[in-house]
Amino acid sequence: MSVPRVPADARTALPSQRWIDRWLAACHDLAELERSNPMTDAVIDEIDGRMIRIGDRWLADFASCNYLGFDLERQIIEAVAPALERWGTHPSWSRLLGSPVLYDQIETRLAELLGAEDTLVLPTITLIHTSVIPVLAGDGTIFVDSRAHKTIYEGTQIAAAHGATVKRFRHEDLDDLTRLLGEDTNAPRLICVDGVNSMTGNAADVRALARLAREYDALLYVDDAHGFGVIGERRDDELSPFGSRGNSVVRHVDETYDHVVLVAGLSKSYSSLAAFLACPSELKRLLKTAAPPYLYSGPSPIASLATTLAGLDVNDERGDEIRAGLWRKTATVLECLDRLGAHTPNTSGFPLIEVPLGHGEDIDAVGRFLFDNGIYVTLAAYPLVPRNEVGFRIQVTAANTNAEIERLVDVLGKLANGFDLQPSRGRSERAA
Ligand SMILES: Cc1ncc(COP(=O)(O)O)c(C=O)c1O
Repeated sequence: MSVPRVPADARTALPSQRWIDRWLAACHDLAELERSNPMTDAVIDEIDGRMIRIGDRWLADFASCNYLGFDLERQIIEAVAPALERWGTHPSWSRLLGSPVLYDQIETRLAELLGAEDTLVLPTITLIHTSVIPVLAGDGTIFVDSRAHKTIYEGTQIAAAHGATVKRFRHEDLDDLTRLLGEDTNAPRLICVDGVNSMTGNAADVRALARLAREYDALLYVDDAHGFGVIGERRDDELSPFGSRGNSVVRHVDETYDHVVLVAGLSKSYSSLAAFLACPSELKRLLKTAAPPYLYSGPSPIASLATTLAGLDVNDERGDEIRAGLWRKTATVLECLDRLGAHTPNTSGFPLIEVPLGHGEDIDAVGRFLFDNGIYVTLAAYPLVPRNEVGFRIQVTAANTNAEIERLVDVLGKLANGFDLQPSRGRSERAA
């Protein structure tokens, strides 16, 4: 990793531009890791289940977001070839020109799964945020959680360029949000939050947020990239505290879609390049022409539409069993951190586990230690997380074997002997 891939004399020089220098300075810590640490920007040579080979080293992968292991499900893989036979590799119409009927089938099935009036499929969540947030905000006000995902922020910046006002409220601080909503009478009003937060692994209080949205005639816009597929409606006969059907945070907390727009992706739990919004049919019709991607962007590949449909089948047939296994594996990792007396912000039991370091400057050495011990994780450098949360994020997937989980637990124990992790802040209230 420290060896440049392109000889210096073969690189194209960039003119010295102050905005690039400022940008590089803001991302300095991350850029340093990218240069020096084997745990970032790696070239993966081969996979075997959830084991990955980088050069001559095999590592257990805890950085994948394929939470349900659908990327490796035989039934889903086998759905691709017949779809390609029928449709070719890629539709290449913009959706407004024409959409293979597969889209229609996906949107209908997603609406049924979510219990929503309608859904609209677009290629990625990033495209949805950057195109839909400006439409929904107009020249009104956006109230954004200070720890919302970077791609939500990008959407709010584009909305600001179109005339919206953007106000941040403190992370999960409903009093702060209520104060801001009370002060600002501008309309329309949009509240933007993550569902299951990509760093803490905890879910926003969607019930309270939806109540506030209705009270102040605002629209709650929830990005549940990490919750969709993992958590769902609660039932007496559920197999795990993640709930049933994986139909996302709104159903998990038994909320409705009144004043709520849910956005989620299929590129994590469903291992497919596509994303969607759950919204009223009237809004869907508007977005088809008002939000640029439906008209101007290329569509998802046929393979992804096929794996989405096959994934929905597997979810119906075996999803809850898969989630129960995922919950057990995640619990084993969280119990290990408890035993080590190590802090994680994760109080939910969901499969994103951030482990902040006692000394953020150890991140490079910690990354190397984990890599050398065969564990691949996401390094959480500044500015991905605040400086006092610099550390690493473990993502557990259903495809991680018990042996891989045991190996992780063993390596975390060794790590805690050699480095300071932040001390646990008392017994957490995880989903039992
Ligand atoms: C919370 C959240 N939102 C959005 C995205 C971006 O999703 P997409 O790749 O579909 O643009 C991610 C990606 O990791 C994410 O974690």
